[in-house]
Amino acid sequence: MRVQNARSADAEIFNYTVVRQFTIMTVVWGIVGMFVGVFIAAQLVWPELNFVDWLSYGRLRPLHTNAVIFAFGGSALFATSYYVVQRTCQTRLFCGPLASFTFWGWQLVIVAAAITLPAGYTTSKEYAELEWPIDILITLVWVAYAIVFFGTIVKRKMKHIYVANWFYGSFILTIAILHIFNNIELPYSWFNSYSAYAGAQDAMVQWWYGHNAVGFFLTTSFLGMMYYFVPKQANRPIYSYRLSIVHFWALAFTYMWAGPHHLLYTSLPDWTQSLGMAFSLILLAPSWGGMINGIMTLSGAWHKLRTDPILKFLVVALSFYGMSTFEGSMMSIRTVNALSHYTEWTVAHVHSGALGWVAMITFGSLYYMIPRLYGRESMYSKSLIEAHFWMATIGVVLYIASMWIAGVMEGLMWRSTEADGTLTYAFVQALASKYVLYIIRILGGICFLSGVLVMFYNMVMTIKGLKGVNPQVPAFVGHDARTAQPATAV
Ligand code: HEM
Ligand code: HEM
Repeated sequence: MRVQNARSADAEIFNYTVVRQFTIMTVVWGIVGMFVGVFIAAQLVWPELNFVDWLSYGRLRPLHTNAVIFAFGGSALFATSYYVVQRTCQTRLFCGPLASFTFWGWQLVIVAAAITLPAGYTTSKEYAELEWPIDILITLVWVAYAIVFFGTIVKRKMKHIYVANWFYGSFILTIAILHIFNNIELPYSWFNSYSAYAGAQDAMVQWWYGHNAVGFFLTTSFLGMMYYFVPKQANRPIYSYRLSIVHFWALAFTYMWAGPHHLLYTSLPDWTQSLGMAFSLILLAPSWGGMINGIMTLSGAWHKLRTDPILKFLVVALSFYGMSTFEGSMMSIRTVNALSHYTEWTVAHVHSGALGWVAMITFGSLYYMIPRLYGRESMYSKSLIEAHFWMATIGVVLYIASMWIAGVMEGLMWRSTEADGTLTYAFVQALASKYVLYIIRILGGICFLSGVLVMFYNMVMTIKGLKGVNPQVPAFVGHDARTAQPATAV
C-alpha cells in the first residue's frame, strides 16, 4: 500500500500523462509492425499473398521497417526518455504542451507513413523513405522533443546529469543532424522529390545516415534505457560509472565513420571502404564496454535472474547486443562481407539486434515502468511476463538461426563454380533450398508476436487495476527514487 501511495504521488509530481501515452502506443505499434513483419515473411513463401498493389511485398517491407523502428522503437524511446529524465533530474518535464505536441505529432507521422508507403510514395532511401512533407513534420516534432528534453535537464534539481541522459541526449542531437542532411531534396510535386545528392555521393550520405540511424536510433538511445532500468531492476549501482563515460565518447566518435561497411565492393572510393571497415572493427570495443558494464551491474545479484522475468529480459537483451555487435564487426571485414552481403545472413544480423536487443530491452523497461506509471505495486501477472520472456526468446532464436543457415547456405551456393567456371547452382535452386527455413522464420515471428500480445493483455489488466487507488495521497518521501545517489540510477 505504501508503495502504491508513493507511486500515485509521483504521478502528481511528474508529467506521466505523456509517458503513459507513448508507453501504450509502443505496445500497439509493436503489434502492428510485427504483424506486418510476419505477413511479409509469409509473402516470401506464398507469393499469392501479393494480391493487390498496396499490399505487395515491395510496399509493405518499408512499412514494416518504419513501423518497428520509428513507431515501436521511437515511441519506446520517447516514453522512457521522458520518464528517465524526470526521475533523474527530479523535476517535471519542461513545457507540458510541447511534450503533448511531440506525442500527437509523432502519431501523425506514423499514420502518414502508414498511408503513403502502401500507396507507393517513397524517396527509395532505406529507413528514410518518407516524402518531404512528412520529413518537415518529423523535423518539427524532433525540435520540440529536443526542447522538452534539454529544457528538463536545464531546470533539473540534481547537480549531476545522470549518464542515461547523455545517451538519450546524443541520440536526439544526432538523429536531428542525420535526418536533415540525408533528406535534403528538391520537391517536384506534393508527394515526390529528388535527392540533392547524386551517384556515389548519394549512396555515401544515405549509408552515413543508415548506419548512424542503427547506431543512434537503435543502439545509443537503448543504452540510455539500459543505464537506467538495469540498475533499478537489479537494485545495484552501475558496475563502473567511469566505463560508462569512456564508452559513451568512444561510441559516439566511432559510429560516425563506420557507414561505408554497407557499401563494400561498390563504386565508393576504395579508401573510404577501408576506413569504414577499420572503424567498424574498432567499434567492437566501445560496444562491448557497454554490454560488459550492463551485465556486470548484476554482480552480487545474479541469483535474482532465477526468479525475476523482467531482469531476464534485460540481461538477455544485453547478451544479444554483445552478440550482434560482434557479428556486425566481423561482417564489416571485406572477405566476410563478400559472403554475407545480399544474403539472409544480413537479415539474421538485423533481427538479432532488433528483436534480441532493441525489443527485449524495451519489454523489460516497460514492465518496470508500467506499474509505476499507474500507481500499481506490480504488473497484473508475473507468470505472463515469464511466458512472454520464453515466447520472445524462442521466437528470436527460431528467426535468427533459420536466417543464418539460409544466408550462409545461399552465399556458398552462389559462389560455387564448376571446373570450367560455370555456376554449380542456378539462382532458383538456392531460393528453393530456403523455403523450409523461411517457414521456420515465420514460426519464430508468430511466436515473438504472440508474446507481445500477451504483454498487451498484461498491460491492459495492470492499467484496469488502477481502480480504487486514491491519487490524492501525500508524497511518500522515503521512496528509493528520491534518496538514491546518481551512480545508482536515481
Ligand atoms: C515478429 C517479428 C518480426 C518479423 C517476422 C520480421 C520480419 C521481417 C522480414 C520478413 C523482413 C524482410 C527481409 C528481407 O527483405 O529479406 C524484415 C526486414 C527488416 N526488419 Fe523485421 N521482423 C520482425 C520484427 C522486427 C523488429 C522488432 C525490428 C526493429 C526493431 C525489425 C527491423 C527490420 C529491419 C531494419 C529490416 C530490414 C533489413 C534489411 O534491410 O536487411 N523487424 N523483417
Ligand atoms: C559494432 C556494431 C555493428 C557493426 C560493426 C555492424 C555492421 C553491420 C554490417 C557490416 C552490415 C551489413 C552491411 C551489408 O553487407 O549490406 C550490417 C547491417 C545491418 N545492421 Fe549492423 N552492425 C552493428 C550492430 C548492429 C545493431 C546493434 C543493430 C540493430 C540494433 C544493427 C542493425 C543493422 C541493420 C538494420 C542492417 C541492415 C542495413 C540494410 O542493409 O538495410 N547492427 N551491420
